[in-house]
Amino acid sequence: NKVLVLHGPNLNLLGSRQPEIYGRETLGDIDNDLRQRAVLAGWEVDCFQSNHEGALIDAIHAAREDGTRAIIINPAAYTHTSVAILDALNAFDGRVIEVHLSNVHRREAFRHHSYVSLRADGVIAGFGSQGYRAALDAVIAATEA
Ligand code: DQA
Repeated sequence: NKVLVLHGPNLNLLGSRQPEIYGRETLGDIDNDLRQRAVLAGWEVDCFQSNHEGALIDAIHAAREDGTRAIIINPAAYTHTSVAILDALNAFDGRVIEVHLSNVHRREAFRHHSYVSLRADGVIAGFGSQGYRAALDAVIAATEA
């Protein structure tokens, strides 16, 4: 069983980018933790970050073909703008969980709307990097139920 973890633009800067909002953990820390956690459950995790919308879309397309059961995605700013990422996720048959480190609903109004939420089976926001772990646990539990 395989899950794809996708991180959108600027998330490569985690740890040093607005740490008061996004925390001190780096993306490498988060991805390593998810991989370890998945292995314990007999799952495989592919992690991918891009600052480019099309590269994220290509990764979603690849997930349609390679047996990926679920996508955990933090689309970052594309959350609020990208019909194209929504369309790509609509072409993917597995489970989709949307994750945000910050509680987007407590922030600027332009962060309150998510295109990706129209497709997501679940949304986690405001729990920092813990949200990715919760998403992984939810995916594993739901798939094995
Ligand atoms: C984010 C929230 C988005 O509004 C923002 O553009 C990000 C990160 C989060 O994880 O809290 O880059 O997705």
